[in-house]
Amino acid sequence: MSITAIRGFNDILPEEAELWRRIEEESVNVFASYGFSEIKAPIVERTELFLRSIGETTDIVEKEMYTFLDRNGDSLTLRPEGTAPVVRAYIEHRLYECPVTKLYYAGPMFRYERPQKGRYRQFYQIGAEVLGDASPKADAETLEMLMRLFETIGLKGAVLQINSLGCPGCRPAYKELLYAFLLERKESLCVNCIRRMDTNPLRALDCKNPGCIEATKDAPPIAESLCADCAGHFRAVQSTLGRLGIEASINKRMVRGLDYYTKTTFEITASGLGAQNAVAAGGRYDGLVSGLGGPETPCFGFAMGIERVALLLKENGFLKRRPLSVFIAMGDEAELKGVELLREWRKKGIRIVEDFSEGSLKSRMKRADRIRARYALILGTDELRHGEITVKDMTTAGQERLKWEIVADRISSAEGY
Ligand code: HAM
Repeated sequence: MSITAIRGFNDILPEEAELWRRIEEESVNVFASYGFSEIKAPIVERTELFLRSIGETTDIVEKEMYTFLDRNGDSLTLRPEGTAPVVRAYIEHRLYECPVTKLYYAGPMFRYERPQKGRYRQFYQIGAEVLGDASPKADAETLEMLMRLFETIGLKGAVLQINSLGCPGCRPAYKELLYAFLLERKESLCVNCIRRMDTNPLRALDCKNPGCIEATKDAPPIAESLCADCAGHFRAVQSTLGRLGIEASINKRMVRGLDYYTKTTFEITASGLGAQNAVAAGGRYDGLVSGLGGPETPCFGFAMGIERVALLLKENGFLKRRPLSVFIAMGDEAELKGVELLREWRKKGIRIVEDFSEGSLKSRMKRADRIRARYALILGTDELRHGEITVKDMTTAGQERLKWEIVADRISSAEGY
């Protein structure tokens, strides 16, 4: 019996991988223009890091982490998200000595969730974190950057929803209010929400259980319980977004699945993804750095799911691959000349492979079609004599004879390059 991949852990095949790489490249370009630098943290961390950051009564920590003991008996966890590792590295390497640090990362995350379209157990995020900036402008500008990225890569119909979760000053009073509300509806709540009701009542607003959704429909919105500082911050984020021309709607129920958030939180959704419609999400986490033993450091960040972005771009038909050409030499002499020509064309950025099969031209053209080549470059005896090559466009079946020197320019100026 052959061995297959584990459910929820996907192979990313070449075409998809190229799309991902281009998403990453565009992200890096956009992030760099806003002053972000890359950080690479390990994919395994001490379990305690996630308990203390994401929160012990979140779904991620309670049900979704890949946690194991290593040979030394230490409890380790495959990172379920990228913010806590970045913050750990920020503290450990004293990056806070710089007043504002802007970091981005890309890589796999692991959550034991039920796999479905757009939801996997190993998934990839590209994320960015601004550490050391308390200003609402940092929230708005980072959101503007993310929306710009979506525009650049051609992701259509992204909808931004925002909320504010307050701060340790105003949240306790809200929690009490929500607790009293939930207590009256306890019979309709699921066992999980009842269990977490006094420690973390906000989780009930995020529960996917239909009974809990119905019971919390009229729950008091947190945004109406904010202290003056949080309310002012939220207003300033909205007005700055307005100035930047970014539309955002307020989603009063959005509490997010991680406990480290304070003040602004957000989600960007897009249709075409089914139930898993969040392409990116994040928010402010002003207490996380100090909570993990670093200095008081206000932060804002986000992560987007590459699989979901790729799914949408594929559905839009955007970001097509750079076309492939196939070189077909007729005869030994043409083959020898081909070695030189291919070297030159590749130097000029042409993506080209050689067809090494023998057979007739017809069967070789069929092979070119099977590997989905856009151009077939045929070098026969006559072409060889004239320093030319026949370039056949496999999509239109049109062909022309071109001098060797202009082939690369002609192909790279064609559509899609
Ligand atoms: P998150 O909302 O848990 O936030 O994940 C961010 C994004 O990762 C989601 O919007 C989604 O696109 C993608 N994602 C999450 N889980 C899965 C999954 N199982 N399969 C596929 N894609 C998934 C965070 O992780 C925070 N660290 C974001 C952040 C950064 N907040 C502040 N800074």
